Formats: sequence, C-alpha cells, structure tokens
Amino acid sequence: MDYPGGTVEEATPGLADAPKLKSATLVLPHLPPRPAWIEIDLQRLRKNFQLISRDKPLGLQVLSVVKDEAYGHGAFHTAKVALACGANSLGLSTLHEAISLRERGVRAPILLLGDRQENEFPWCIAHDLTCCLSEQESAVRLSQLAADAGKRVPVHVKINTGMNRYGVLWKQAPDLVERIFSLKALSLEGVLTHFAQSDETDKTFALLQLSRFSDALVGLRAAGLPVPCRHICNSGGFLDLPQAHFDMVRLGILPLGVYPSSVCRRIPGIESVMTVKARVAAIQHLQPGDSVGYGMRFTATGPRRIGVLPVGYGDGFPRVRNQGFALIHGQRAPIVGGVAMDALTVDITQIPAAGLWNEAVLMGRQGEEEITVHEVAKLKTSVSYDVLTGWRARLPRVYLHEEASE
Ligand SMILES: Cc1ncc(COP(=O)(O)O)c(C=O)c1O
Repeated sequence: MDYPGGTVEEATPGLADAPKLKSATLVLPHLPPRPAWIEIDLQRLRKNFQLISRDKPLGLQVLSVVKDEAYGHGAFHTAKVALACGANSLGLSTLHEAISLRERGVRAPILLLGDRQENEFPWCIAHDLTCCLSEQESAVRLSQLAADAGKRVPVHVKINTGMNRYGVLWKQAPDLVERIFSLKALSLEGVLTHFAQSDETDKTFALLQLSRFSDALVGLRAAGLPVPCRHICNSGGFLDLPQAHFDMVRLGILPLGVYPSSVCRRIPGIESVMTVKARVAAIQHLQPGDSVGYGMRFTATGPRRIGVLPVGYGDGFPRVRNQGFALIHGQRAPIVGGVAMDALTVDITQIPAAGLWNEAVLMGRQGEEEITVHEVAKLKTSVSYDVLTGWRARLPRVYLHEEASE
C-alpha cells in the first residue's frame, strides 16, 4: 500500500492508455478528487517531534516507527519529517515497506522489527536494512550471505523478556550475542526488547520485563560483549518509564499526536496529526415513518433532514448503526441508520446551515468540537492504533504544510 502522491496516470490504473483529452481548458489536478479524504498536518507532526525533543534527555536517540504507512499517515512523509526533526533511524515491519522507502530515496538507517525468513536476507543486505535476530541459525545464514556480498552488516538482537512473540529468552541472550560476535560479517549494533504493557497505570509486568532486560545486559557486560545501543521503550515506556530509556526509544503513536492510552498522557500540547473529512453529497427530507438505508435501521419519528456522507466501512469507518457522530458547522450530527460500504447518513435537522457539499469531520477537530481517535475506537470496540491504521488507502491523503527542505 502506498498512498497516491504521483501523477494522475500513476494514481489511476489504465488511465495512461486512455486517449488524451484535447481541450486546452481542461486542467486536471494532481490527483482525481474525491469528496472524502484524510488531511495529514505536517506542521503538527513537526511540533509534536519538537515537544518530544524538548522533553527527552539530551543524547537519547529516537527511532521513528513508521510501519504500516506510519499508522496510516504515510510512511514517506512521516519519515521525512521525523528525520528532519532529529530522529536517528526508522522502524518498519515488512521488507516491502522498507524497500518502498529506499526506492523513494530515504537513506537513513532502517531497523526491521520482528524476525525475517531466510529468503528475505538477500533483500535486506542489498537495501542496507538492519535485521533483528532471535536465534543462531538465522545469524549464521545472514552472516554467510553478507560475506558472499562482501559486506559486514549491523544487527540487533531481540530479547524475549515476557512478551513471548519474538526474541531469545533473556537468560540465553549472552550465548546468542557471543555467537554473533564470532560471526565476522555481522556487527552487533544493538539489543532490544518490547514491553507488553507500558501504558497502563499498573507497571508491574513492565518493571519485571525491565529487570529481565537489565539482567541480560549484566550478563553481556560480564562476558565482555559491548552493546552500542540498548532499547526497550515504545511511546508508553518513553512517557512513563524514564528509568528504561537506555540509549534509544522507539516512538510510533506519540509523534502522531495520540497518547498511547487515557492514563499515559504526559507532555501537554501534543496534537493529533490526522483529520478524516467528507463532504455532504446529498440531502434527504424525511417524513414521519420514513426509514434510511440498508435494513431500515432508522425510522423518522418527525420531519428530519438527513445528510449523506460518501464514506463508509469500505474506507475504514466502523460499521455501526445509529451510533457516533460527524461534525458539521462545528456541531455534532448523529449518525442515523447503518454505515454502508460507501456511505453513511447523519441527522442534520438541528444544523439548518448545513448544505450540499459542506465539509464534515469524521475524526478530528472542527471549530470547538472534536471527535477523537479514542471516540472512534470505542465505536469499533478497539484501540486507537487499529483506528489509525484502519483508514483505507482509497481515502486520498492530503498533506498540509509540506516543506521543500525535508
Ligand atoms: C517493536 C516495536 N517497538 C516500538 C513500537 C512503537 O510503539 P508505539 O506506537 O506505542 O510508540 C512498536 C509498535 O507496535 C513495535 O512493534
């Protein structure tokens, strides 16, 4: 998935083969328009990074996690701002997303989070991508392939301190690291672990993970194995566990202006970067007894003005019925009926100024009102991370306040 940012021909499959329009007056915009879109405010993103920079101890490195298109914000634009604001490196999940950034000219260090299958290693070596290693066999294979390519490649060792997904068990970390030191085509750049729960009030398990990680580091030091970069913190850990900062923090959601949870909200002034918008595409006037949409889930009890927004669950909006709101003219318009694939309906009876093609906000601020990502997450019975990444690629991303120097 790459958010359209190219020419009309690139963004519209098959259009390049279509006969060229002759009219001299017909000027096509950069992208085919759609009356539903997502605005990404890069100025707010810069400000969030600046607030984080001001808050963090001097010398603490930042790895900007831009996986899954920077949680739906666009990996390329987010990475450019992050690096311009002082981030040292980038974190991604899949080979494909890492190669896409390389192909767009991003040269910064990229750490691939998670483990790689052996057949991914040649691509990692060719594109200067840093891998995490959790076991010996992969380390040996990566080393052989790097040696064949005439390279010495940096690696990070992932330590399992209780998350039980990736990583070598903390007690066995010194053995694996020692083996990696013996492999001449690998250079140990870092060791990391990942918190299972860093953004809740109860930090018991996070502190247990921290003590296991610290034990592993003591073992490495005792074995004379130096580690340049130790890292454990995501946004929650960065905000709430300063004793766990070590050399680097891996930040995904916080720079995007979303606190990781309702109880993990240090650093005032952080502002959400993403706003989801649509225009009122049709207006219906209902009489008592008239219903709206599939399944007739809403029936008017009195005269009602209904606005149709051309956005639906096919764009990532939760498939709710008679729940949630859109903002129009700075007022909350309740969603009525069921959300369909391409459309949802809102009651605008109480907003007489609302007219055809007026702008509505489905997530974000309008005037004094705001629909937060957390509010949408409740509708989805999920979390903010899921909502941000859940907005589909067919909603065009419009980047505000781009700077040529980035
Ligand atoms: C290994 C790793 N580190 C850091 C992060 C960033 O987490 P957050 O978005 O909470 O900052 C993630 C995201 O899931 C991750 O998988």
